[in-house]
Amino acid sequence: MIPDSFKQDLLNRVDIVDVVSRYVQLKKGGANYLGLCPFHNEKTPSFSVSPAKQFYHCFGCGVHGNAIGFLMTYSALGYVDAVKELAAGVGMQVPDERPPTPQESARKERETDLYALMEKAMEFYRGELKKSPRAIEYLKRRGLSGEIAARFRIGYAPEGWQSLKLAFPAYEDKALVEAGLVIEGEEGKRYDRFRDRVMFPIFSARGAVIGFGGRVMDAGEPKYLNSPETPLFEKGRELYGLVQARDAIRTEGHALVVEGYMDVVALAQYEVGNAVATLGTATTPVHVSKLLRLADEVVFCFDGDAAGRKAAWRALEVSLPLAPDHKPIRFLFLPDGEDPDSYVRKHGNEGWRSKLREAETLTQFLLAQLRAECDLGTAEGRARFISIAKPHVQKIAAPALRLQLINEIAQLARVAEGEIDRLLELPPRARFSRPAPPRTRYTAPDIPEWSLLFSLLCNLSLVEHIDPDALNAERAESQALVAIREACREFEDDPSLGLLLDRLQGSPSLEIVLRAHRYAEEIKFSAEEAETEFTEALVKLDLARRKKELDQLRAGGLASREEQVAWQEKNLAYKRLQGALPSP
Ligand code: CTP
Ligand code: MN
Repeated sequence: MIPDSFKQDLLNRVDIVDVVSRYVQLKKGGANYLGLCPFHNEKTPSFSVSPAKQFYHCFGCGVHGNAIGFLMTYSALGYVDAVKELAAGVGMQVPDERPPTPQESARKERETDLYALMEKAMEFYRGELKKSPRAIEYLKRRGLSGEIAARFRIGYAPEGWQSLKLAFPAYEDKALVEAGLVIEGEEGKRYDRFRDRVMFPIFSARGAVIGFGGRVMDAGEPKYLNSPETPLFEKGRELYGLVQARDAIRTEGHALVVEGYMDVVALAQYEVGNAVATLGTATTPVHVSKLLRLADEVVFCFDGDAAGRKAAWRALEVSLPLAPDHKPIRFLFLPDGEDPDSYVRKHGNEGWRSKLREAETLTQFLLAQLRAECDLGTAEGRARFISIAKPHVQKIAAPALRLQLINEIAQLARVAEGEIDRLLELPPRARFSRPAPPRTRYTAPDIPEWSLLFSLLCNLSLVEHIDPDALNAERAESQALVAIREACREFEDDPSLGLLLDRLQGSPSLEIVLRAHRYAEEIKFSAEEAETEFTEALVKLDLARRKKELDQLRAGGLASREEQVAWQEKNLAYKRLQGALPSP
């Protein structure tokens, strides 16, 4: 079922010395490597691995074979599993049981063509910008330097119905329509989609041009024209400026999400390089997870008007289930009538940064909106407050964030701590019957970090919830979690396990990750089960941290009344968090 060609490919890419030395200590001796045979007991090495032949052979017991055979014998894996594991190690994807259909191969080729096409169009538009004093003048008037225009590869689509013919002599090529560059009108008449517009190329996270936004320079309509959805471009998944912002997001420690192309570009002009924009769509969960993967904090930035607040609310709703405990999500509202572009031009880099400090946290924004809808001075108002808060609280997955919010709601609604959970109808935590732990040659350690590790390997989308500060740094599992987190940052979407393992080649964590991977394969959690396991482990870590803090406080003597009250409050929070765990 695994095609022979794939097996050959795999064996060409895998180095058997690499594979064997994960398990057996090898020493170079002449052209070959030597070690103690793992398949029989011996004191002097007679197990030889040949890099030239990609073969192993034991002169003592006679076992021999290639990398696949080694792994099958050593790990007691079946052929398919051994191939999968080896393939994972070199970032190859084992083909589905069947070869790609001709249509699938054709589509793949088509996509490759479209990328090349878009790249060529971008270069054409850039060249045209240089020739158009009017477009250059427009960009200058909007405060952009040549350097920033070049950084964002801004171009100009000339006037005329078929200017793209200059770049694409084969103007009738269907691919131009498929790429969204050319429109086919009635009676098959073709013309350029973008005419007389300043062109903003949109890049995928990997840096390929996948679409364009074009702006009119005077009062035309629509102000912005975007590429349609194409095989390369799906608006709700992409963020404008992500490629250019990546480094700055790391150094600034947060990502800024704004609404417009010009906002991103103008901020960059004022040395605020960490901004990205949604592409004329509301914030989607894909946007939020992408950003949370890259950044330790996300700040949404909206106009202060009604439309801005509505868009912010939408971003909040999408963020609730995704917000991790350790990565704050905040909201910045600009004065009515301002957008980041106009604001930064008026107030400069410093002015922008001080405005940024006013950003509200997600809970502040949520509570403020809810409070605005009811009168907390009356019993009815407080009752209403609880009932409209309910669906939002229920959506939050991060245990500590949820707990904090619940406490605030209880206080505002003047409800006793013990009552609020019932009123908010927080569902008792999902229970599932856990499969018996797999029988493996090692005992899985009973520590939260291990649970995090193998449940993460069952469901890589949990990676955003890993907080290095919450882990016990000296544990190998923690180091592996951090290594995975770092590796995942390089990927645009949830990476396949193969790609991940490939990225971890050479990392000291590779071995424990492989072990956890094997464990995960055997325990076979569904994505949801993995999430429950993962969340429980997070709560356990949080509990341990809180317990330590409580003990330290108590050891300090709790001399004053304030200290006692503070201790009691913390203890109460601790007890409630404990209640969130299913009883053993
Ligand atoms: N947008 C769009 N189609 C439109 C109008 C807007 O796709 N007809 C998207 C664009 O991504 C644009 C963003 O919404 O960048 C914000 O629009 P708007 O606030 O109207 O424009 P600005 O970004 O302020 O643009 P400018 O400053 O150039 O006027
Ligand atoms: Mn604007």
